[in-house]
Amino acid sequence: MTAYRPLLRHAPLVWRSIHPRPIGAALQCSRYASSTKGGQQKRGGGVGRFVGGLLVALVAGGAVLSYPTATKEPPKIREANIEYEKPRPLPESKEDSRDLISSQHLQVKQSWEHPGVYCWGSNSGRVAAPDSTDSVVKTPRRIAYFDDQLIRDIKLDKEFGAAITERGDLVQWGTGFSRENPTPTPTLKGKDLVRLEISKDRIIALSKDGSVYSLPVAQLDQQRGEKSTSSSWSFWSSPSTINYRQLKPTGLGWGESVINIASGLEHVLLLTSKGRVFSAASSTSDFPSKGQLGIPGLTWATRPQGVYDQPHEILTLKGFKISQIAAGDYHSLALENDGRVFVFGDNSSGQLGFEVEKEIPFVDGPIPLPFSKMYRGTHEKPRVTTIAAGGANSFFTIDATRITGPNDDEHGARSLGRLSSDVWACGSGIWGSLGNGRWTHVSLGPSKIKSLSGLSEFDEKTNSVVPIRLAYMSIGSTHAAAVMKNVTHVDASDKTSDQDTNWGADVLWWGGNEHYQLGTGRRNNVATPMYIGPLDGGKGDAEKGRKDEMHRFQIAPKTTVRLGEGGKGRKATIEQRVECGRFVTAVYSTT
Ligand SMILES: *[C@@H]1O[C@H](CO)[C@@H](O)[C@H](O)[C@H]1NC(C)=O
Ligand SMILES: *[C@@H]1O[C@H](CO)[C@@H](O)[C@H](O)[C@H]1NC(C)=O
Repeated sequence: MTAYRPLLRHAPLVWRSIHPRPIGAALQCSRYASSTKGGQQKRGGGVGRFVGGLLVALVAGGAVLSYPTATKEPPKIREANIEYEKPRPLPESKEDSRDLISSQHLQVKQSWEHPGVYCWGSNSGRVAAPDSTDSVVKTPRRIAYFDDQLIRDIKLDKEFGAAITERGDLVQWGTGFSRENPTPTPTLKGKDLVRLEISKDRIIALSKDGSVYSLPVAQLDQQRGEKSTSSSWSFWSSPSTINYRQLKPTGLGWGESVINIASGLEHVLLLTSKGRVFSAASSTSDFPSKGQLGIPGLTWATRPQGVYDQPHEILTLKGFKISQIAAGDYHSLALENDGRVFVFGDNSSGQLGFEVEKEIPFVDGPIPLPFSKMYRGTHEKPRVTTIAAGGANSFFTIDATRITGPNDDEHGARSLGRLSSDVWACGSGIWGSLGNGRWTHVSLGPSKIKSLSGLSEFDEKTNSVVPIRLAYMSIGSTHAAAVMKNVTHVDASDKTSDQDTNWGADVLWWGGNEHYQLGTGRRNNVATPMYIGPLDGGKGDAEKGRKDEMHRFQIAPKTTVRLGEGGKGRKATIEQRVECGRFVTAVYSTT
């Protein structure tokens, strides 16, 4: 395990804390890179360094951090300047020494000792910091209500927030929920909710047993019953004091249930365990009118009798086994088991990703997106593995398998590995949300996010180069985050050496930052994925004498640990997750 880590020993800390370095240099201590020593010891060192360099170059190319980029730091300074280093406290225990060695170790530990919700971005609706009247929250801040809580899901709008507690109850906050009391308040209880989506004015929640609940965001509407426009509401049941409705797809087969939901501002998609997709209206104020329901010809005027938010099966997708769904504000994506993507809805920013001769503003039935076209002539066969959407953007991750062709350069093929993982984006780029370094209003087909594509690392367990995929992406209305998958380390224990430190997964951020939602502490939009600092603002690092060093936030992967200070609390399997919303962002701990 130490092959990735040796640079994080004591020596380099000395010159790092004296000389601020460009982010690229700081990242040399990342696990992608190897120290010279590690490079000599391990064959994988060279590969690691190359990959590190790639990420570094692209991140630094974003030119968003204020670190001086022109400094040339000769490493020999390390010895010469040792006398300027302030004495560090001597480690008192193994854990102490690990905290001293690594910011990442400390971050992972803090996530276990003090789980909770960190939030930042717009606070005009009292969402990022319900207890504060600040209009923006510039860097990650904890929401005290959730301290030491694990939550199942969280969704954030500029005006309201909603979360599911560990027990499956709904908690809401923000001025869109209640002007009088915008602080977190339990609302819908006892439904064992597992997943949450939000539209313009309603919350859609999925329970463990597959029931789908739809309830108004505003507390007044929850208590009063539905708004006057809802003459067609035929029922609501209310064992609690909250008025909610159930979205019930009809004609489900034996044992078939809803397993996932994805909502835009006015519509929601429901995915069943048999791979069928239904869509329904999810807003009280506007009926979906941009084709995002995927039902050709369906409008407010032509809707069938009955409640207006009844789910409709998307018949065009019948016969395909859909495994993933995603929704932007006004558009929809569905991924089939075999890697085929269907798109429908609004295309005014090019978010559907495919070109036609004559442009049409929206498409009201699912159409397959031909990725093979984008890989033509590459000797690679694409297969879409995940989809994601938000705002006016769509994202796709693709496994591109090397296929042998007549002109194949075998050496090149070998050094690149057999398979590369690519990320593509389409839609609006005006806030930088395409992540491709450009600021275009409209995309003409998907473009590759180079800094997230074709990455690989050396896996010492298998002694081979493996592609680095994304664990997942979270797409907000104008900003986005990607969590990288693969080699994390959380096995440091009493039995391993005191140099054995834990580390989490990298998270990269880009897009709109007008409300400080990227967490950089600055307000400029970012068109190329970049890192942000640790959640606690480097406070832990400062305490450990690492004040001036450039550290980045890493997310703690899924592990079974004892929570609480010194690991003395209850046992739980937890992980941290990222959620980008409408101008607001959260990192939370979940089971
Ligand atoms: C979607 O929008 C983009 C950008 O305007 C355009 O190039 C493409 O042809 C459109 N696709 C459809 C189906 O209209
Ligand atoms: C990294 O990912 C590859 C491909 O998913 C997998 O085969 C490998 O086991 C992973 N390595 C580690 C150390 O998790």
